[in-house]
Amino acid sequence: MNNDIKEILFTKEEIDEMVVKIGKKISEDYKGKTLMLVCVLKGANMFMSDLMKAIDIPVEIDFISASSYGHSTVSSGVVKFLKDVDSSVENKHIILVEDLVDTGLTLKYLLNNFRNRDAISVEACTLLDKPERRTADVLVKYKGFNIPDEFIVGYGIDYAEKYRNLPYIATLKPEVYGE
Ligand code: PRP
Repeated sequence: MNNDIKEILFTKEEIDEMVVKIGKKISEDYKGKTLMLVCVLKGANMFMSDLMKAIDIPVEIDFISASSYGHSTVSSGVVKFLKDVDSSVENKHIILVEDLVDTGLTLKYLLNNFRNRDAISVEACTLLDKPERRTADVLVKYKGFNIPDEFIVGYGIDYAEKYRNLPYIATLKPEVYGE
């Protein structure tokens, strides 16, 4: 698996540091409020696990599954909502937790969807942002790192369902994705 890696963009230590920083900011901003983190599966699962540990106020968690890519690497623009939250969002402050915002289509859809429910507020948090690729107009309250327009893997993020278990974030060698 490591032989497929071109370059490590962020080490485990660098990610940990960023996650702690975001967690601290969320803890300050939502102190005294009823907060629920909603993890957007599957990519955000590792970020979610670390982020919730970095938050020192009471927090509820839930999970949704929405996919725009399937097994392809090109956004189809079609967002499939596969799993919804189990708990109610009513009278809660919601933060949607994403690993990556690329075109922004997925997040835009999800923010709109959740804002049409009875939550008090709905915001988004992403570890990675690819601003060059953005086509949807979407505001992300909490952002970690900006990344270049390349295939990246690790820390929950896959290429064709592989590499999610790498503890760092890296680019892939072009031969891996066939260029
Ligand atoms: C990734 C990522 C976001 C979305 C971002 O998920 O987790 O949900 O794509 O792309 P966009 O900004 O262009 O909409 P993916 O569909 O690859 O599913 P996964 O998290 O299960 O791997």
